[in-house]
Amino acid sequence: MSILVTGGAGYIGSHTCLELLNAGYEIVVIDNLSNSKFETLKRISELAKKDFKFYNGDLLNQKTIEEVFSKNNIDAVIHFAGLKSVNESIEAPLHYYHNNISGTLSLCQMMKKYNVKKMIFSSSASVYGMPKNVPITENSPLVPINPYGRTKLMIEEILRDLYISDHSWGITLLRYFNPIGAHESGRIGEDPNDIPNNLMPYINQVAIGKREKVNVFGKDYDTHDGTGVRDYIHVVDLAKGHLRALEMVIRTTGIDAFNLGTGIGYSVLDLIKSYEKATSKKIPYTLTHRRPGDIDKCYADTRKAKEKLGWKAIKSLEDMCRDAWRWQKNNPNGYNK
Ligand code: NAD
Ligand code: WQD
Repeated sequence: MSILVTGGAGYIGSHTCLELLNAGYEIVVIDNLSNSKFETLKRISELAKKDFKFYNGDLLNQKTIEEVFSKNNIDAVIHFAGLKSVNESIEAPLHYYHNNISGTLSLCQMMKKYNVKKMIFSSSASVYGMPKNVPITENSPLVPINPYGRTKLMIEEILRDLYISDHSWGITLLRYFNPIGAHESGRIGEDPNDIPNNLMPYINQVAIGKREKVNVFGKDYDTHDGTGVRDYIHVVDLAKGHLRALEMVIRTTGIDAFNLGTGIGYSVLDLIKSYEKATSKKIPYTLTHRRPGDIDKCYADTRKAKEKLGWKAIKSLEDMCRDAWRWQKNNPNGYNK
């Protein structure tokens, strides 16, 4: 079975490509490398001991996508390609709406033309915005609070309309919580450009000596220690969730959304402590002001994924920290040698 992976050179895409190859799927990857490196693809092949086809192309380019579908017998698509920085989306909303939404529209048009009607879409917990209650179920109100989150919700709605128009589609919307960690080989991992916005890559850069200390955003949240609580999930657990979703979507039609998280909320200080324990590295930090747009607590109700996909995250916070550090230590400059 041949799976088209859009954004397969990226952080979550690369880990999923590896799991797909290890499970015996053929893959075809399309990525414009706008936020990733070709080196990642070489490492996926090396780890899986398998080759695969790669298109260095943009989803916005209809000609490239047509080439992908006309030259390959694609059975299903896992659609990761998109821009993902909340801050950037506030500064450049048109760029975000264009890339994420138009990219998805052109992909879906080609899927329809070539009669490929199975899709897994990378949605995000950001579709829930500021949830009133935790844990967050899939039925919680969908009120994203930034352009990035709105691109995700709009795409979910577009895909729902697509299904309404043609019931032969099978679409799974996966709402990820906070993916962190890396493959245990230490060969693939998260490689942010510039100063990391997200907590784990920032901690990694403090641990390797690139940054002095972590600025902990907010100390007076309504949480057990006053710092923000999130549902961190190991990227390999997350990648495996895509395989379960794929198995389901291949044999069914319909559209459904699933939270992919662990269901456990950890604070910023919990994560720092766990990192120190797992790696024996000291992580200096200072408690500072809240970051605008942040919420106090966000973690998933994971029952639906367990019941319907038969999937559950198994790796612990310490596993996530150990694997994140192994990746950072072995690749101090990410994929740049
Ligand atoms: P990433 O930036 O590492 O990967 C996305 C990939 O898509 C990159 O390799 C990029 O070059 C590619 N891409 C972007 N626009 C493209 C286009 N128009 N044509 C072709 N390729 C394009 O991000 P990630 O962390 O791996 O996230 C994957 C998906 O999951 C994204 O859609 C993201 O919004 C979503 N998501 C991520 C997180 C997270 O915290 N990492 C959480 C929830 C949802
Ligand atoms: C985690 C916690 C911060 C950095 C974002 C997106 C979300 C999803 C995942 C894509 C918070 C605190 C952070 C730092 C800190 N991405 N923090 N110091 O904001 O939960 O989610 O990534 O879909 O849409 O919004 O993740 O890692 O930025 O923050 O104290 O230097 O760490 O305040 O409590 P977030 P994060």
